[in-house]
Amino acid sequence: MNEINMSAIVSAQAPKAVEIVGLSKVFGSVVGVANVSLDIRKGEFITLLGPSGCGKSTLLSMIAGFVTPSEGAILVDGEDVTTVEPHRRDVGMVFQSYALFPHMNVFENIAFGLKMRKQSAERIGQEVRRVIAMMKLEGFEHRRVRQLSGGQQQRVALARAIVIRPKVLLLDEPLSALDKNLRTQMQVELSELHRATGLTTIFVTHDQGEALSLSDRIVVMNRGEVQQVARPIDLYRTPANGFVASFVGEINALPATDFKVDGGEIALAFGDEVRLTTPLRPEWSFTPGESVRAFIRPEHVRRALPGEDGPNVLHGRVATHIYQGAHTITRTEVASVGLIEMRTTGSDIVAKHPVGSMMALAIDLDEAILLGGE
Ligand SMILES: Nc1ncnc2c1ncn2[C@@H]1O[C@H](COP(=O)(O)OP(=O)(O)OP(=O)(O)O)[C@@H](O)[C@H]1O
Ligand SMILES: [Mg+2]
Repeated sequence: MNEINMSAIVSAQAPKAVEIVGLSKVFGSVVGVANVSLDIRKGEFITLLGPSGCGKSTLLSMIAGFVTPSEGAILVDGEDVTTVEPHRRDVGMVFQSYALFPHMNVFENIAFGLKMRKQSAERIGQEVRRVIAMMKLEGFEHRRVRQLSGGQQQRVALARAIVIRPKVLLLDEPLSALDKNLRTQMQVELSELHRATGLTTIFVTHDQGEALSLSDRIVVMNRGEVQQVARPIDLYRTPANGFVASFVGEINALPATDFKVDGGEIALAFGDEVRLTTPLRPEWSFTPGESVRAFIRPEHVRRALPGEDGPNVLHGRVATHIYQGAHTITRTEVASVGLIEMRTTGSDIVAKHPVGSMMALAIDLDEAILLGGE
């Protein structure tokens, strides 16, 4: 916890590497990016996370200079680059499809940005060798792009982006074409690359697990708009709204039919039968008649102990088990509430509580998120 707080303090004091001010992009009648403002600190690893079509690539392409904003400004290192050409911006970009030059070999692909910048042959040789070593591509210099595996192509794309010693590295879903094992391996390598170079990195993904594990901060987007900007732990524990709660991690969204505040407690009603109660928190101030939803992570639901009853123990019928190796996800149908997902370690539960049997669930509301309105 301390360590996380320390790094947050350091990054909050670091100078701004990129400032995005009221940035929008409209394509005809489609709003790609809507009025985004964001400061990115030097050395930060920040991730744009959101569903397909939410504007991640458009935002990144505007920072790189490949898409012209409809409104707003972009500053890199304090300098307004909104109308500056891409190759004069000091940003390196890896595209969603690696976009390597098929007619060039590995060396030529990596050297391209330096040639564009009119560097000497000697300097180009030095710099390309530096990143080839860094990206573990020794021996591949003369291979054609099509003679490389997906992971190797990905490394070439990264090498090509960092060889120009950019002020900012932009990565648009660089791992999406890789299989799961290679993807996990490249996540570690990306982390190490970031640590070794200290490069300010803006990473795009629609994979929330990847975002949570790699980022200093995450920007959650939906329909062109920023929903929340927060550290992974804060995003997971205190999502700002229903979209963020549901998009980041697995969660049960349970809409209450009514609620009552009494003696420092809030009681949520689901129909006439079911109640969930928990101590009221200062951030919860709902107005009478407001629709309140309880968001509960599957890891905060467990099997009730034999004979355990009382508030926050719900009875339901097991609907499905999804075996996932180290743990099992079980969905139980609770009348007036709906399906509740629970995560348990191992696979005991599959035999002990077969599909169709009744099961009692104990809900831990200490970590629950209650959101009103919407
Ligand atoms: N050149 C374009 N012309 C018209 N519409 C576009 C163009 N580029 C993007 N859009 C639209 O803008 C919106 C945002 O697109 P964008 O590519 O930024 O999404 P994304 O978040 O990167 O999605 P994905 O995860 O699928 O890559 C989408 O509705 C898309 O159809
Ligand atoms: Mg995209």
